Amino acid sequence: MSAPGFKIGDKVKGVSLKFDSTAGELTATYAPNRGTSEFQATLHVTDTKLLQRMEELCEGAAMASGARDEIVEVRLSELTPRADYVLRATDWIASSALEWLLYSNENTNWTYDLTPRSLSHLANMVSIATKRPVDEIEAFITELKTDEDLKTHIAKTILDGPADRAGLADTIPRWSRRVGWYAVVRALKPKLLIETGVDKGLGSVLLCAALARNSTEGHEGRYIGTDINPSAGYLLCGPYLRFGEIRYGDSIETLQSITDPVDVFINDSDHNADYEYREYQTLAPLMHDSSVILGDNAHSTDMLMRFAAETDRKFLFFRETPQGHWYPGAGVGFAFT
Ligand SMILES: C[S@@+](CC[C@H](N)C(=O)[O-])C[C@H]1O[C@@H](n2cnc3c(N)ncnc32)[C@H](O)[C@@H]1O
Repeated sequence: MSAPGFKIGDKVKGVSLKFDSTAGELTATYAPNRGTSEFQATLHVTDTKLLQRMEELCEGAAMASGARDEIVEVRLSELTPRADYVLRATDWIASSALEWLLYSNENTNWTYDLTPRSLSHLANMVSIATKRPVDEIEAFITELKTDEDLKTHIAKTILDGPADRAGLADTIPRWSRRVGWYAVVRALKPKLLIETGVDKGLGSVLLCAALARNSTEGHEGRYIGTDINPSAGYLLCGPYLRFGEIRYGDSIETLQSITDPVDVFINDSDHNADYEYREYQTLAPLMHDSSVILGDNAHSTDMLMRFAAETDRKFLFFRETPQGHWYPGAGVGFAFT
């Protein structure tokens, strides 16, 4: 006959586990001394295999100490130390998620900073894809991070706009992987740069800021963004609008209307794999040996890698490590010759 449940919590301070096999519930409590909150999670188990396993554990715990076999003894004594490992990780995600819920307004397209190491990895990858020295790429990244005009423009555009802007966007820009997009544009000085999918226009305005800097160095370039949503791209305004435009409608239809050679292409619209691949195919005749293609979907599909192989290009993938954010990060796919 199975025991209804048991509770263990002595071995690791702050960690306790409660099993209730009758109710099918596992409750984990984690109250680390260093923390400011107690984390408690109750799992209502419905899976038969897991329920069976809970019953076995409860039976083991119910046996008098002398009657338990050694394996059961070791297994039970290690439950809270093992829970301590997993709950530490879960607690970190729960507290960063709570902070995000309270301080951020974003309801889609998350933005965050990257850890310093992640930024260094990104700088090295951009250096490989653009064939420019790493210190030059790092200088472009610093240039973006210290661009106070751009930060002010973003905050002002959001705050001066309708309520659903300030209510659904953060006024302090966190560029995430877009830092790499900026550095690519500064390094390559493209004449034509295309981004499919613009959302608020955070990428658009950052890319146009890069084109503005290129222009002061004598390299003129133009940005075309595309989006199916007619309200997308509101951040691309003011002085940045001189360097680009947003064309509204289906991306592939917009791409079909372009005839000039494309130097840099950023795919970030419909994240369906077939759609993504069709975007690359549509622009392929306009790409040349020095074109660089950046995929914002490369963390979830192999379409850019496939396109790179088919067009004799190299492929690299950078995976983001966000700083202090619950989201595990996306990445940048690079295709280049
Ligand atoms: C992930 S967001 C783009 C984020 C943007 N690149 C940035 O830097 O923040 C994806 C965007 O693609 C747009 N989109 C989705 N399907 C599309 C399509 N078939 N054609 C054009 N845009 C599309 C959505 O409206 C959305 O704004």
